[in-house]
This record gives sequence, C-alpha cells and structure tokens, in this order.
Amino acid sequence: MPTLSPSQQTVCDSLQAVWSYHNLFQLWSYSGLGRTTMVAELHHRLGGIRLGIQDFVSAQIGRDPTAIEDTIYCVVRDALQAADHVFVDDWHLLADSMSPCGHYPRAGYLEAVGAAIAALATASRKRLLIASESGLPQSMNSQCFPQGIGEFDVDDYRHLCHAYGGDATGTLDFEQLYRFAPRLNAYQLREVCDHFVRTDVWSTDSFIDYLRERQLVSNVRLAEVAPVRFEDLIGVDDVIEGLLKHIVMPLENDTLAQQFDLKPKRGVLLLGPPGTGKTTIGKALAHRLRGKFFLIDGTVISGTDRFYHQIHSIFQLARDNAPSVIFIDDSDVIFENQQEHGLYRYLLTMLDGLEGQSNGRVCVMLTAMELQHIPPALMRSGRVELWLETRYPSTAARVELLQRLTASLPAEIAGFDLDSAALATDGCSGADLKRLVNDAKTLCAWDKFQGHEIQPFSAYLLQAVSSFHEKRAEYHAAENRGRKQRANRPAWFDVATGKDN
Ligand SMILES: Nc1ncnc2c1ncn2[C@@H]1O[C@H](COP(=O)(O)OP(=O)(O)O)[C@@H](O)[C@H]1O
Ligand SMILES: [Mg+2]
Repeated sequence: MPTLSPSQQTVCDSLQAVWSYHNLFQLWSYSGLGRTTMVAELHHRLGGIRLGIQDFVSAQIGRDPTAIEDTIYCVVRDALQAADHVFVDDWHLLADSMSPCGHYPRAGYLEAVGAAIAALATASRKRLLIASESGLPQSMNSQCFPQGIGEFDVDDYRHLCHAYGGDATGTLDFEQLYRFAPRLNAYQLREVCDHFVRTDVWSTDSFIDYLRERQLVSNVRLAEVAPVRFEDLIGVDDVIEGLLKHIVMPLENDTLAQQFDLKPKRGVLLLGPPGTGKTTIGKALAHRLRGKFFLIDGTVISGTDRFYHQIHSIFQLARDNAPSVIFIDDSDVIFENQQEHGLYRYLLTMLDGLEGQSNGRVCVMLTAMELQHIPPALMRSGRVELWLETRYPSTAARVELLQRLTASLPAEIAGFDLDSAALATDGCSGADLKRLVNDAKTLCAWDKFQGHEIQPFSAYLLQAVSSFHEKRAEYHAAENRGRKQRANRPAWFDVATGKDN
C-alpha cells in the first residue's frame, strides 16, 4: 500500500480521532486526491469490511436491473451485520447509475434506502464510512460526520513524487512546481514522474515543460493556430511591451514573480479598430503561454445552452491551470447581444476575485472594437486594470509592413517605392495592407495571364488602393443610409420580424 502524503495522513488521523463518537462518516473529494487510498488506510487501521464498486456490481448480477437500490441496501446491511466497521468507496458511481436523466423508474428512491442504511448503522451502533465524489442522499447527509479532502499542497507534491519517482526527485524545486501548477492530482503527478523515470533526466524546468505540453490542457490546439510571434507584429510595440510586462513576465519568470510578489493583471482590455492585430496578438500569446492560454471566441456561439456549458468548462479549466489567461476575442460582439448575462456574470465574479483559491491568478483579457457594447460595470476601475490600444499603423509602420508583405515578390516586379506606397495607404490597417498587396499581385498576374505588358508593382498597388477606397466609401454610404432608416423607424416597428405590429 502506498504511504499517505502529509495532508492525507492528517485527514485519516482526524477521522480516527472522532471514530468512536459517531456512527456515520462521509469522506468527500474530487477524483485523484487519494480517496480510495485513504479508505484502504482507515480499513487497515480500524479493521472491518471494505466495500468497493466491484462488490456492488457482482451482487447486482442476475438481480432486477430496475431495483439497484435493493442490492445496495442488502450488500451494506450484510456487511453491517458481519462487522463493526464498514467502509463503502465510490458511492457516486452507484448514485450516478440511477441518475434521473435516464429512464430509471425509481428515481429518488435512493433517499429511502439512504435513510434505511443510516438507521441500521445507528441502531446497531456500528461505524459506517461512505466515500464519494458527490453528495450523499439528503437522508444520510444530515446524520453524517463530514470530512473533505482538500487539494494537495507542496509537501504532498514532494511526498507523492518521491513515492512515484524515487530519490531522483530530491533535486526538484517543489515550491516552484507547485506555484506553476497548484492543482495537480495524484494521477497527473504519477504520469509526469513515470515519464521522468523512463528518461531519467530530472530537472524542475523539464518537469514544468512536460506539464505545459502534456498535463495542462488548454482548449486551444496550438497545431491549428498560425505560428505567430510577438516580433511579427509591427507598430504595436507599446501594446506588446504592456503584455510582456504585466502578463507574460509574472507567468513565466517564477523567480521575479516570487521576489516582487508579481501577479498577472486580472483584467486586460485590448481595444482597437478591425484588422489592427488584436486576434493576432492572442495567437502569439497562445504560442508563448502554451497550456496556460484559454480562448473564447466566435466559435463559441453565445446565448445557447451549449454556450454556457462551454464557458463554464473553459473557466474551470483556466482555474485548474491557474495562473492562466482567458482570452475573449471580440467581446463587444458577444456583449452586443444584450441578453448575454451568463458570460457577464462569470466575468464579474472572476474580475472581482471572488474565486477563492485562484483569486487573482486568472487573467481575463478582452478584445473589442467598440467600447460602447461592453457592459460599463466591467470597465469600472479595479476590474479591467490594464487598457491597451491597437491603432492604425503609422507611416513608418506601413513602410515596414509593406516591406515584409512584398519581400517575396517575383524578381520582375520586385523593388518599388515603399515610401510613396506607404503614403497612399494612410488610414489602412495591417489587415487592409495584407489584402491590398494580395490584390495588387492578382492584378499583376492577370496582366501576365492575358499577355499584357507588366507595369511596375507600385502601379498595381495604387490601383488596388483606389478601388479599395471606392468600395469603402460605398460601404460607408450604405451604412449611413441604414442607420438613418433605423432612426426613422416608428417605435412599434418589430426589429426581430421586420414588420409593423
Ligand atoms: N500590427 C500588425 N503587424 C503585422 N500584421 C498585422 C498587424 N495588424 C494586423 N496585421 C495582420 O492583419 C491580419 C488581421 O489582423 P487581426 O489580428 O485579425 O486583427 P483584429 O483582430 O484586430 O481585427 C492578420 O493577418 C495580421 O497578421
Ligand atoms: Mg479579431
């Protein structure tokens, strides 16, 4: 039997200390924190009968499948008759098998069985401990001495890793490991240790790298995110410096974070016109932070039941992997739908630091084009602590962007006047420039395809720029017309159906 970690030891000791004062005990924890190990330890210390899920499953064989409670009752009753101390593990698996979501005909009957079992244990003055990941029937709950198993602390990490990896783990800095990933369970610790036992190269950095790669699962599949780096972004140096200083450094540099008690900013707003690099900054951040980056974007469709489920699990994952970043791209688009209360509520809770353990350790980063669609309460000071703005690129930034975008032009059109191209593209975003260069290339290729003589590349670029401005002017005119029509609409006009009512 594995030896208990310090906090597991404490839990067992405190249960043993009150063992003679109660009849019913509940041992509760999330999975992977050693519940079964502790049930085995208590059974070892106190004697009696230990019942696991296999005892209930084998007793159920050949019995009525719509009367699982009867089996549970009989198995526990027989054990209580045969021994003074009975330990039942994995109760939640039994309760789940009668989940009201299915078509089980006696939903709720487990309450009655719980009451009967509790009465039996009390009347016979026996000791019954039930270990579970979820709550017990209300009828038992009220009579139980409850004992929870908390998450592991540094000493538990040290102890468990030593049990799995041997003396070689003595060289690891467990304080640092724990700060990096404070919510690992025993399965995760064992998996990492098993890996290092195979490779036999133990170091804190490689341990952390391995955790990033394998254990701390983000909802972002990095293989599907374009491999962007901060250096690829031009003209947004102040934004990047802000992110490096306030988010990346405290997350990455453990020594400094420790020395100066640094924490990533809790709320960050990245505001800027479309195409100025907000999403790209998120992609660069995802690559830089790897397993510590979580994304909510347009693929998570707001307002649906699935949306709330997704949001909940993304927040949960981010908390489990704290310190971490939740990046909410185009948050103004999500909040434009005034009904969007679920996400809003989550954000308020998160930003107000009501999250207990992960308090201040999850950074929520919002991107937006329009400030007016973001609920004002979110922007209140203290909630969004850092404002960063992406702007249309300056002339110098446009020169650099155009230079990069045209770096691999065919030799016959390479070399053109970047300065005049930059002047002609005043007011264009990074995304606009990308599109203009592509349009110019298409125009050039079209001439070639038709057997016409090729012009200098700047001529194609200017052509693309002027048609781009024309299209933009048409678009703005149409948008203004639409706005006026909307403003002139009578109050009783039903926006959803487009009809008068
Ligand atoms: N400052 C910039 N430097 C380099 N590329 C940029 C910059 N701004 C935008 N781009 C390019 O424009 C495209 C769109 O940018 P994106 O990040 O989606 O903008 P936003 O999210 O602000 O609408 C991307 O391909 C990106 O590489
Ligand atoms: Mg974007």
